[in-house]
Amino acid sequence: MDKRSQRKGQFTDKLDVPEALTFDDVLLRPKESRVEPDEADVSTRVSTNVDLNVPILSAAMDTVTESDMAIAMARQGGLGVLHRSLDVEDAVAEVERVKRADELVIRDVVTAAPDQTVRDVDAMMEREGVSGAPVTGDDGDVLGIISGTDIRPYLEVGESDEVREAMTDEVVTAGEDVTAREALELMYEHKIERVPIVDEDGHLTGLVTMQGILQRREYQDAVRDENDHLRVGVAVGPFEEERAVATDEAGADVLFIDCAHAHNMNVIEGARAIKAQVEADVVVGNVGTREAAEDIVDFADGIKVGIGPGSICTTRVVSGAGMPQITAIAEVADVAADHDVPVIADGGIRYSGDAIKAIAAGADAVMLGSYFAGTDEAPGRVITVDGKKYKQYRGMGSVGAMQSGDGDRYLKDEPEDDEEYVPEGVEAAEPYKGSLESELFQLVGGMQSGMGYVGAPTIPEFKQRSEFVRVSSAGQTEGHPHDVMITDEAPNYSPTE
Ligand code: XMP
Repeated sequence: MDKRSQRKGQFTDKLDVPEALTFDDVLLRPKESRVEPDEADVSTRVSTNVDLNVPILSAAMDTVTESDMAIAMARQGGLGVLHRSLDVEDAVAEVERVKRADELVIRDVVTAAPDQTVRDVDAMMEREGVSGAPVTGDDGDVLGIISGTDIRPYLEVGESDEVREAMTDEVVTAGEDVTAREALELMYEHKIERVPIVDEDGHLTGLVTMQGILQRREYQDAVRDENDHLRVGVAVGPFEEERAVATDEAGADVLFIDCAHAHNMNVIEGARAIKAQVEADVVVGNVGTREAAEDIVDFADGIKVGIGPGSICTTRVVSGAGMPQITAIAEVADVAADHDVPVIADGGIRYSGDAIKAIAAGADAVMLGSYFAGTDEAPGRVITVDGKKYKQYRGMGSVGAMQSGDGDRYLKDEPEDDEEYVPEGVEAAEPYKGSLESELFQLVGGMQSGMGYVGAPTIPEFKQRSEFVRVSSAGQTEGHPHDVMITDEAPNYSPTE
């Protein structure tokens, strides 16, 4: 060979490139196992102080996570991260809504006055959707309790009678510190369905209902804070101190510094400033390299990984920059593990197999957008195209999302009147999927299968024990259904084009 063609220089050196891998490039090597998938424990940490019962987060996107999704995610043991295109006031209201859901003690209590007529109270209870109400005096002291059963005989004979005549005036009350078990015991003992909560002076401060307690029991895996409220995450921009402080005060458990390139040093400074002002844990992202992780790991409570893997992302084709997700996770996890900081793999997960591969690469939890965008709990309505049902799903860097929020995530200024956006995402639609619960069931069940194949009973053990094998393109083809015509849709598989 001509000697000149073998010479190396500044630019030809660049072509000695390291390989970077993503989900389809690898598979988990099956290992000896005594782990039954159903018994694999998927609990994990999302940030230094917040544990989850399932290692799943819903993406901070305006077509994925508002309070309905966050409530449903926390009830199932994961975490919803509210998007940041909401006004700060609305974001605070959304956090409060999650915190109030499934509350043992209801605070907005519907009350009756002793001199109201039973007809009046009957109409009020119907309007408010309750079947009973404490009766309170002018200063809020509890005089009695009235329910549909008390009212019914009066409605027949004298509906203009006053509540004071129809109510039960021997009221069983409890103090602020009552637990669900104690309240239930009171209810069984006295054959009642609601217990008013009173302060030391006997003034009404809340209400515990049998229905509320039973509803909480349905969600055994729910993740709750130290006050027993559902947990919630909130996305904030790196320079949005106001949003960070307001949502922190409203009770947000984890703030996610939400930026497409968190290795920008201004972003890191902004994130540090926010961390210094809030009580919530602060997860910083997104990054995709070891060097970025090194610059963040000393102050972050978690690091989120993903530069362009998302289903609606065009970052890699638009900017020419990015990092295939398995390598990105592994690089960041190498650094984070040394500091005991959790890692969240964000984007590109299409199947449960991808999710558990992300954990094997070093993540503690995974964040998904497209997987959940078609569920009932995602914002937006169902649309029908050619008889098939869909819900809208769009990148936060798409033109539509940037117009209704801002381009801050992509470090872009608002365009002037005659300027255009330079988007890094597309607007799309996801097939309608029904309830989040059934989607999560499939996702978690598939991840547990992966733990079974590897023989690891817990997420930390799985991270240690799992190994990858490299897959050729023939191997990839072999891994999907092939040479058949699929006749029935599986709940956890749809072919990729
Ligand atoms: P999946 O694949 O689960 O990805 O739909 C969701 C994640 O994608 C990121 N995201 C974007 N990335 N342009 C991007 O390059 C965008 O417009 C965009 N919107 C969201 C985000 O990290 C999300 O969690």
